[in-house]
Amino acid sequence: MLDRLNHVAIAVPDLQSASHQYKTTLGATISEPMEIPEQGVTVVFIELPNTKIELLEPLGEKSPIAGFLEKNPSGGIHHICYEVDNILQARDKLQADGVRVLGDGEPKIGAHGKPVLFLHPKDFQGTLIELEEV
Ligand code: CO
Repeated sequence: MLDRLNHVAIAVPDLQSASHQYKTTLGATISEPMEIPEQGVTVVFIELPNTKIELLEPLGEKSPIAGFLEKNPSGGIHHICYEVDNILQARDKLQADGVRVLGDGEPKIGAHGKPVLFLHPKDFQGTLIELEEV
């Protein structure tokens, strides 16, 4: 089922300062900030040779990462994203195995314009997992 690691997402309290640090201290190439109101986040992408890092900042009142940042005020790894070739097949298999898919269980279009789903962290070693169909 699993294919490549698509990205690691890091929630940050201040996107501008985090982007600045990645750019100046680590010499990273960083995209322009992109607001995704449907997901309650503003995101920048850092392209690495073998994967991507996403920095996420809360957007709006009901951001799904607001609670995470309350518990982790300086930020932290929020989720990892694995690629799958068929997201509906993957979902059906996981649900049949008792894994909880977040939300209504239907894939949403994610930050990269591809269908994504999130799996409950309590069903995966405390790690929020995003699946992205590529
Ligand atoms: Co993601």
